[in-house]
Amino acid sequence: MTQKLLITNAAQLITMAGHSDKPARKGAMSQFEVIENGAIYMEDGKVVEAGSDQRIREKFQDSVVPDNHIDATGKVVTPGLIDPHTHLVHAGTRENEYAMRLKGKTYMEIMEAGGGIHATTRATQEASHEELYEQSRKRLDQFLLHGVTTVEAKSGYGLTLEHEIKQLEVAQQLSKDHPVDLVSTFMGAHAIPMAEKENPEPFVDRVINEMIPEIANRNLATFNDVFCERGVFTPEQSRRILEAGKEHGLIPKIHADEIEPYAGAELAASVGAISADHLLKASEQGIKDMANAGVVGVLLPGTAFFLMAEFAQARKMIDAGVAVALSTDTNPGSSPTISLPFIMNLGCLKMGMTPEEVLTATTINAAHAIGCAGEAGSLEQGKKADVTIFDVPNYLTLSYQYGMNHVDTVIKAGEPLVVGGQLQ
Ligand code: NIG
Ligand code: FE
Repeated sequence: MTQKLLITNAAQLITMAGHSDKPARKGAMSQFEVIENGAIYMEDGKVVEAGSDQRIREKFQDSVVPDNHIDATGKVVTPGLIDPHTHLVHAGTRENEYAMRLKGKTYMEIMEAGGGIHATTRATQEASHEELYEQSRKRLDQFLLHGVTTVEAKSGYGLTLEHEIKQLEVAQQLSKDHPVDLVSTFMGAHAIPMAEKENPEPFVDRVINEMIPEIANRNLATFNDVFCERGVFTPEQSRRILEAGKEHGLIPKIHADEIEPYAGAELAASVGAISADHLLKASEQGIKDMANAGVVGVLLPGTAFFLMAEFAQARKMIDAGVAVALSTDTNPGSSPTISLPFIMNLGCLKMGMTPEEVLTATTINAAHAIGCAGEAGSLEQGKKADVTIFDVPNYLTLSYQYGMNHVDTVIKAGEPLVVGGQLQ
């Protein structure tokens, strides 16, 4: 049976059309078309046509029954939001470390003492597949309720082959069972195990010679990520790990220049990474290199907010020609949130981005950061019918009113899964 859906009368319809091949950069990040009084028709989980209410109704109204017709009067319709950087699959929380940081301890001090990523690694290693699945599934429901229809998910709290596989298998299972689309990233190089801190080379060798080949062989990930940071993986180790991934068909990504300047942005450009993420301390040269190499800059202002750090220089990056995307970085240590809309608020208020840029950065540019811009990130003919309807009169309100959830309806592959702000 053909599944049909028509949305009419949108106060504003934003399609983000025209950037499926290449991410939007510079002025193009602000220059999308806003269709006042817009409509969109979808069939079999795909977009058929978007345009003015009058034209779309004339063409398609007769082919839908009232049940398949959504009236978006007074609301804003956008592509389903995309979160291109999360640590979705993990066990437990770290509110104790939050309290320690509020008393003056730093994120890296806590990690060096065996907390931080190590604490979540212990919890994740101890958790069964089922426990991890259940905790992560709840988070995915929350993403959906906040308008997100595609999420990238990293491993990196296993740190042994067995437990890295467990995390990625949970992601794979969820991507089959849950309507939100998941894209997986192997991040065995997320931390050096505590017992090997003094002599990390054998662990780097295991990531390269054991983990990467096996993860690739099992088809458990598309991307390969590394935490390139002083005290974690050096640029030289990071390069070897990313090059090894490439040999096995895993596309490089990198946690770069988060806490200290460490030439991570430069490395991303030189290994041909699809994205470099964080970039709070990226150098001028690194920013230039990324723009020249076409590396998407995935900025995570929730992390700067939560770690009480300086924010990444989004304005400078966009003006230098870097395609910028935004993400939550969902994780229990540096960004315990799933609210991508709140990240949009931070993008504007703390990183000098415009309301238009933050929408581009959470839709089509986010899709480019995880290689899915051919299917998602914009509402164009043949692309997935992933649509978010916000109960706001115009898109400016989205990055103006903060800390609240404006999502009214979420449609995934042509099916309304959130209606009136409630999961169906
Ligand atoms: O992206 N920076 C490294 N990894 C995560 C934090 C992980 C954690 O603290 O558990 C991040 O911020
Ligand atoms: Fe991260």
